[in-house]
Amino acid sequence: MKDLTPEKTDLDPIEIASRDEIGALQLDRLKWSLRHAYENVPMYRERFDAAGVYPDDLKELKDLARFPFTTKGDLRDNYPFGLFAVPRSEIVRIHASSGTTGKPTVVGYTRNDISNWADLVARCLRASGVRRGDIVHNAYGYGLFTGGLGAHYGIERLGATVIPMSGGQTAKQVQLITDFKPKAIMVTPSYMLNILEEFQRQGLDPRKCSLETAIFGAEPWTNAMRLEVEKAFDMHAVDIYGLSEIMGPGVANECVETKDGLHIWEDHFYPEIIDPETGETVEDGEEGELVFTTLTKEGLPMVRYRTRDLTRLLPGTARSMRRMGKITGRSDDMIILRGVNVFPTQVEEQVLTVAGIAPHFQIELHKTGNMDAMRVNVEATPDATDAEARASAQKALSKKIKDIVGVSCEVVVNDPGGVERSQGKARRVVDNRPKG
Ligand code: DLL
Repeated sequence: MKDLTPEKTDLDPIEIASRDEIGALQLDRLKWSLRHAYENVPMYRERFDAAGVYPDDLKELKDLARFPFTTKGDLRDNYPFGLFAVPRSEIVRIHASSGTTGKPTVVGYTRNDISNWADLVARCLRASGVRRGDIVHNAYGYGLFTGGLGAHYGIERLGATVIPMSGGQTAKQVQLITDFKPKAIMVTPSYMLNILEEFQRQGLDPRKCSLETAIFGAEPWTNAMRLEVEKAFDMHAVDIYGLSEIMGPGVANECVETKDGLHIWEDHFYPEIIDPETGETVEDGEEGELVFTTLTKEGLPMVRYRTRDLTRLLPGTARSMRRMGKITGRSDDMIILRGVNVFPTQVEEQVLTVAGIAPHFQIELHKTGNMDAMRVNVEATPDATDAEARASAQKALSKKIKDIVGVSCEVVVNDPGGVERSQGKARRVVDNRPKG
């Protein structure tokens, strides 16, 4: 793999500023953002009044802990535009995420918001080893999802060449990668596995393709997956995080030279970690739920938005801004099986260690009698489809999940192609337990 470390002179000065400088900028911006929310969004005014806290009460960053949280439910309750802090006519773009039930979550951006977003995605691209003039294949879905357009404008802002491929049409993805020779790809890690399969199906060697770096996000993925894909393509794989409520892709990104967690762009988003049960903030280094307050968003300011994503805050390394660890999972995706908490990422780690099993998996929850039970669906690699190989892979994976994750489960080794494939975010858990 090539060394893609950016030159220090290419970075935004604030990325490597002193902590004091970052803290001072955050405090100024946080004061503005709280006031903007309070003065322009009825929900924030009511919430702050009810809690007896006012924007002027924020004297230091830690005073933010006195302010109330915002949740996805608040966005739904104010559907579609009720939390916008500017006249509707100032909003130049809407995105929405469908969610599993009910109304979509709608977000809106002013012209300045869109411009900041492009700057931050450009920053992520630089951190990932992309430069002005490089070709970037964008396989995040275009449309209401923030992935496609969010990445698109960042690529253009950097001065790179965007291939706006979107998700799906896997054979065409491979054709365009082969013919246009992009240096970088932006895609969900699970869909990258489909692209990998398509390379293999067409008899092409993925290690010989032009890709040098991949920017994977929109879903949890593990370091085990990183190693798998880096080896398969002989390229770097770095993590990009974001969520539509806060902006979209580009809230945080790993640096290609360290790959040690994602630097949060703290000049635009103020992170906290809370205990999800009590709502108390915890110290840096402790695991909990990630909470963000936007510092510059005009259209849809968010005060202490509970992401449901579980991680911890770590000190800066390649940049001065703090890092977050790779997301373990969402609290909504946590499976509680006979008292043991299980995240799909823990299963992924084990799936990737067993010979004869492909890196695709899906967890199915069902009932046996009164008990919840978990079935892990995986598939044999094409060179290990005979009964004996499957039986031994099956046994090895069940044992690893029992010994390391700590739960007994059924493992089913399907034929190659037997596990559902994703075109974007993978569906890792299917809940077939009777409702109610
Ligand atoms: O997934 C934005 C995005 C697009 C991020 C492309 C990165 C790349 P939403 O659809 O609103 O936005 O979903 C946000 O996806 O709260 C996390 O649970 C999950 N997620 C996003 N990035 C990561 C990541 C986009 N790198 C939700 N690791 C978030 C783990 C991620 N989970």
